[in-house]
Amino acid sequence: MPTITDKAVLITGANRGIGRALVEEALGRGARRVYAGARVPQQHPDERVTPLTLDVTDPEQIRRAAEAVDALDLLINNAGVAIYDDLTDLSVLERHFAVNLYGTHRVVEAFLPLLTDAKGAIANNLSVNSLAAFPLVPAYSISKAAAFSLTQSLRSLLAARGVSVHAVLTGIVDTDMSRGVEMPKASPESVARAIFDGLEKDEEDIFPDPMAEAIAAGWHSSPVKALEHQLADFATSSR
Ligand SMILES: NC(=O)c1ccc[n+]([C@@H]2O[C@H](COP(=O)([O-])OP(=O)(O)OC[C@H]3O[C@@H](n4cnc5c(N)ncnc54)[C@H](OP(=O)(O)O)[C@@H]3O)[C@@H](O)[C@H]2O)c1
Repeated sequence: MPTITDKAVLITGANRGIGRALVEEALGRGARRVYAGARVPQQHPDERVTPLTLDVTDPEQIRRAAEAVDALDLLINNAGVAIYDDLTDLSVLERHFAVNLYGTHRVVEAFLPLLTDAKGAIANNLSVNSLAAFPLVPAYSISKAAAFSLTQSLRSLLAARGVSVHAVLTGIVDTDMSRGVEMPKASPESVARAIFDGLEKDEEDIFPDPMAEAIAAGWHSSPVKALEHQLADFATSSR
């Protein structure tokens, strides 16, 4: 995606935290239309923002949201939950999967026809915990690892349709989600800027903050990344 200028963008979980910063950044970069998906949508003073009622666990709301959008260049799956747990209650794992994995998958499915028409892009806001579990939030970490695997497979599966799929491997950011964790945190605004910079440079995996950047240099030339490409090439040639 060479530039966001004049593009139509949909952001889930757009009402606060990183999602809200992504809305402002998209507007600042000249997006033509920003669909701001939220469980409780808010009006925005900029007329380019269209609020959408969008609980990513609700198939009917997703269907209605997709009907309300006529063209889409970029989908950012940002909505997420993180609950402190110790893996003793399976329902906590299920709550994470409902939003962070199945929600992302459902929203991709619903908007894929529009993204295919536009030869557009999908960015999934994941976490460094997709790569390394944080045992204060183990269920969250499992769901983000699963969502990263989803992202890698979608990248291969959708390439033939001209849709690019990007992983955002975010470190710790100063939002409601990280309240209670005492570590240096990036601002949501700086993370939103880095996400759009990464998309405009067409980076497959985006590391949008200092904690994440520490992984980036080794990641791009790592055996794991090489294996991802090797397996994707094999799958493509076998289809
Ligand atoms: N903050 C961090 O340190 C950090 C680090 C790595 C990755 N991330 C990822 O970044 C993304 C945004 O997180 P954040 O830090 O901005 O957290 P946040 O401030 O807690 O915001 C979470 C957003 O997700 C929305 N959401 C939750 N469940 C939803 C559902 N079922 N349907 C639609 N929206 C839903 C929330 O909406 P409501 O207001 O309705 O609850 C809210 O808008 C998440 O995917 C998170 O995993 C964050």
